[in-house]
Amino acid sequence: MSLYAIGDLHLHFQSELKSPGQLNGRVWRDHEKVFAENCRRMIRDEDTLLLLGDHSWGKNLTASREDLEYIAALPGRKILLRGNHDAFWEASKTPALNAMYKGRLFFLQNNFAEYGTYAIVGTKGYIFEGPFMVDRRTGRVVSYDTVAREKAEKLVDRETDRLQRSFDAACQAGYSRFIMILHYPPTDILSDRSPYTRLAEKYGVEQVVYAHSHGEARFHDSLQGRHRGVEYHLASGDFLRWKPMRVL
Ligand SMILES: [Fe+2]
Ligand SMILES: [Fe+2]
Repeated sequence: MSLYAIGDLHLHFQSELKSPGQLNGRVWRDHEKVFAENCRRMIRDEDTLLLLGDHSWGKNLTASREDLEYIAALPGRKILLRGNHDAFWEASKTPALNAMYKGRLFFLQNNFAEYGTYAIVGTKGYIFEGPFMVDRRTGRVVSYDTVAREKAEKLVDRETDRLQRSFDAACQAGYSRFIMILHYPPTDILSDRSPYTRLAEKYGVEQVVYAHSHGEARFHDSLQGRHRGVEYHLASGDFLRWKPMRVL
């Protein structure tokens, strides 16, 4: 029995790309075929696959049906997290989605999923993504838009509450070993700590797995490796070249 993770499939079986520029490059060519082949080779029915958000470009559930069917047809148990592009999934409609795809897909939001003795906890997350003012000579961030940062902090608070609810639900069910998943990276490019990393440390999380960072230039925006007792891994699809990452 193994646990795998990957994010940012950005499927578009039924929809036009909203920002095609984001998904340029060889790695995106036929990526849904490459990914499905890798899954069929690596993942068995008893395994679990964590999908870390940005599943579909569909603008509503009807326009995302084929993308969700593609995911449901992959081998293993599938657990989905919300990404910033998942317009088909309103947070408040999570119970309805879970009822609709019962036994085929599990949507993780204000709840948790069990994996052996572990609880999988998580939320979409959010971080401040600028605008930043960068020194052209050194490439260093010299300042940033403070109003945008204040707005971002409110969203970080909301997501921290949702993550806390996920931990609470898992603790109430008796779990004390955790794998934490986020769509956004756990920290912005200005910091190496955040409310998410503090929760990970507080609960003794073993691994934090996140996605959202696309393209070489973004792969090192946040934590990777061991920091203050917690392992951090980026698992965006193009970073992994569509090969699911083995978590456990
Ligand atoms: Fe993405
Ligand atoms: Fe994203």
